[in-house]
Amino acid sequence: MATIGTNAGSVALPFQDWRRFKEAFAPELVEMAVSETPGRVERIVDPFGGSGTTALAAQFLGINPTTIEVNPYLADLIEAKISRIDLEAAALAFARVVERAGNSVAPPQNPFPDAPRTFVEPGVDNRYIFSKAVAARLVAYRDAIMAEANEGIRRLFRVVLASAAVPVSNVTISGKGRRYRSNWQSRRVSPAAVDSWFRDGVLQALYDLRRFADRSCQEYTLLRGDARQLVNDLPQHQLAVFSPPYPNSFDYTDVYNVELWALGYLSSRGANTALRNATLRSHVQIHRDMTADDLAAKTLGETVRKLESVSERLWNRHIPSMVAAYASDMAVVIRGIGRAMPRGGRAYIVVGDSRYAEVDVPVAAILAELAPGLGFEPLRVEPFRSMRVSPQQGGRPQLSESLLVLGRR
Ligand SMILES: C[S@@+](CC[C@H](N)C(=O)[O-])C[C@H]1O[C@@H](n2cnc3c(N)ncnc32)[C@H](O)[C@@H]1O
Repeated sequence: MATIGTNAGSVALPFQDWRRFKEAFAPELVEMAVSETPGRVERIVDPFGGSGTTALAAQFLGINPTTIEVNPYLADLIEAKISRIDLEAAALAFARVVERAGNSVAPPQNPFPDAPRTFVEPGVDNRYIFSKAVAARLVAYRDAIMAEANEGIRRLFRVVLASAAVPVSNVTISGKGRRYRSNWQSRRVSPAAVDSWFRDGVLQALYDLRRFADRSCQEYTLLRGDARQLVNDLPQHQLAVFSPPYPNSFDYTDVYNVELWALGYLSSRGANTALRNATLRSHVQIHRDMTADDLAAKTLGETVRKLESVSERLWNRHIPSMVAAYASDMAVVIRGIGRAMPRGGRAYIVVGDSRYAEVDVPVAAILAELAPGLGFEPLRVEPFRSMRVSPQQGGRPQLSESLLVLGRR
């Protein structure tokens, strides 16, 4: 069980290494959830798709998946993995894309016009994410890909190129945000690195797609957008397996910002803000409406009160209202999932606790308390793996991550 929550052992798994996704859980969790759910599981839902683990594992198990994902790059990454594509046509398209990119003329002055100015050399204060030469190569490939007629092939190549964006940049990304590589000025990435990342990525992707082309289920439904609304559009399903963002400083729009801008998933600041506002209220990086429903959960009330009582020691004064808003958002999603689930259906939810100014936010316990009001009974809460405490929380011992299992009443 200890290994189920981590993707540490799954780096070599097919599909998973198209783009390393630290927040993914292991596909075995889906298998376990299916085997424990009473009755036949015909459909599985995941309202927070991420890298697509639930959907892909479901297809391997012969079960029809429905996935919601708000981030357009991640939604494309999921769909590229779970949709069928004509591999012969993809191989021919690959040759065309490489040729077109090779013939590309000098790029426009600013290849990512609306992106933050730090994106391309000379950047701001002489710090920039991509050198001009690397940016030009990325854009040459991006444009060559977008000239392809077949939507599935375009999507696949685009996510492969997106996976090259951070490695050929001057930054690294972690849950704590974006950081310049220590030696970035002397490192000087060659534009040819874009060619090799793209070529290797396409070969890997085509290999995985070919090798696992006859998964027992080839169907899927992908809903692009905000789970808080889209749970109302879910088909009837017997099982939900998911992991929402945790209430901490991990901001998914920020974490995938390089890919989002470089590949044209975002093309205006307004779109960036809209995406941030459509993500779960799990962080305080942007100022947003933190109005919360009045939920009947003792632990939630106590936690918010404790946080308010130490507000002068919190690194952001919106943390107490964010925790209440987070619980509200989760309640909306869990209730929505339950609406399209028969009695006996189950939800397997991987959540992480947080700690601010020595106040614990026991997320699994809070959700277990909320469950009866949302149409579920809590069946069990068990420890998962541990996460490191973020630096804002003092870097002290570890926070727990839990698997919460709910049964539909
Ligand atoms: C912890 S990750 C999911 C990881 C996934 N279980 C896997 O194995 O790859 C959470 C995901 O929720 C997405 N997300 C955040 N807010 C969302 C919202 N309001 N609606 C849908 N997806 C959202 C994020 O973009 C992120 O991909």
